[in-house]
Amino acid sequence: MKIAVYPGSFDPITFGHLDVVLRATALFDRVVLGVLVNPQKATPAFPTEERVQVIQEAIGGFFPAEVAARIDVELFDGLTVEFCRHRDATFIVRGLRAISDFESELQMAHTNRKLAPEVDTVFFMTALEHSYLSSSLVKEIAAFGGDVSQMVPEAVARRLSERGRGL
Ligand code: PNS
Repeated sequence: MKIAVYPGSFDPITFGHLDVVLRATALFDRVVLGVLVNPQKATPAFPTEERVQVIQEAIGGFFPAEVAARIDVELFDGLTVEFCRHRDATFIVRGLRAISDFESELQMAHTNRKLAPEVDTVFFMTALEHSYLSSSLVKEIAAFGGDVSQMVPEAVARRLSERGRGL
């Protein structure tokens, strides 16, 4: 059984993230979205508990039931590699949107491999149509009352618009 952890802030989850999850489910038997509890991050769109709920809802609405059944969403804090060990995962999944992502991702992959040689990192190139997307841009657009329905799943867009301007 091949298990992969896809760690991130997912604040909020975007279509770019979901595209990476979908492609990871083609390669791995189980994909665990690890949502980092990061109290230092300024102005989260969603508190971490709600984030998990929103992601689960988004996955339920986006993937066929048999695929959704192979995806878990869990909060974690501490090191990603420790979370991988806890979940018996031997792979970390990350998405690469552009060359600008590469440097920090390479550094993270090497660091994680040093910490846990049994865990390898696999990158998916985010689909071209989503490669411009970032959670922070989505937050900014939503904060100014803009339409983010092309960028994030319905579960996210609905909550952001209910909340209105000024997150
Ligand atoms: O979506 P993000 O915010 O780019 O995700 C970053 C994340 C969560 C993958 C990274 O910050 C992380 O792994 N944090 C956990 C702490 C850790 O393991 N640090 C060492 C990795 S180099």
